[in-house]
Amino acid sequence: MSGQPIRGVILAGGTGSRLLPLTRVTNKHLLPVGSEPMIFHAVRKLVDAGLEHLLVVTGVEHMGHVVGALGSGREFGCEITYRVQDEAGGIAQALGLARDFASGGPVVVLLGDNLFQDRLDGEVRRFLEGGHGARVLLKEVANPKRFGVPKFAGDRIVRIVEKPDIAPSNYAVTGLYFYAADVFDVIDTLVPSARGELEITDVNNAYIAQGTLTWSVLEGWWTDAGTHESLARANRLVRQG
Ligand code: G1P
Repeated sequence: MSGQPIRGVILAGGTGSRLLPLTRVTNKHLLPVGSEPMIFHAVRKLVDAGLEHLLVVTGVEHMGHVVGALGSGREFGCEITYRVQDEAGGIAQALGLARDFASGGPVVVLLGDNLFQDRLDGEVRRFLEGGHGARVLLKEVANPKRFGVPKFAGDRIVRIVEKPDIAPSNYAVTGLYFYAADVFDVIDTLVPSARGELEITDVNNAYIAQGTLTWSVLEGWWTDAGTHESLARANRLVRQG
């Protein structure tokens, strides 16, 4: 993929309702995981993969605290830009706010409540070598119905089903996505789902329809941290290293 270097987008919005009352006065992504606020892990993963420009998207209520925690990015060795998501319109809607920031180049998108062990440099390289489309990272889980779940035909993903009643495989699509610059045109074509949101799974299904979605499986541990149980797990895993 030529042209602009890849930039990073960290999505840190949402109401955090599954973590009440911890999220009554603060943003989920500022809660502690290990010895740091959750969002520090996302920033470090992207900086360790060589990214220099990151965008953080969050709601207006907690933007001040998020900026207070992360600052300019200097402490992390990157430059951080911020955008306000006015209402909770879904992950794909939040990503749409990154169009100008991406300035015609590809993006790595990280959901701020996803914690994982692997380094990302190899995946960044593989995606950029592919030159187009999208790439998702999967992890085998015990409870796939909580996530986006891939349906396979051989080693091809033929569809991703968001929070299925019957999971078509034992894999979760993690909240770690790579997109070419045309992702913003894909987002423009989306319609809200039954829960009234623009779904990241619909973005990925559009790339499947184009035949340009690639995937791989994370080797190390992965967890989200959006519920009390998974937040406790994230703390355990991060402390173990
Ligand atoms: C979101 C995505 C889902 C993905 C998950 C990973 O779900 O919609 O496809 O598997 O993140 O953490 P949410 O956690 O917002 O319900």
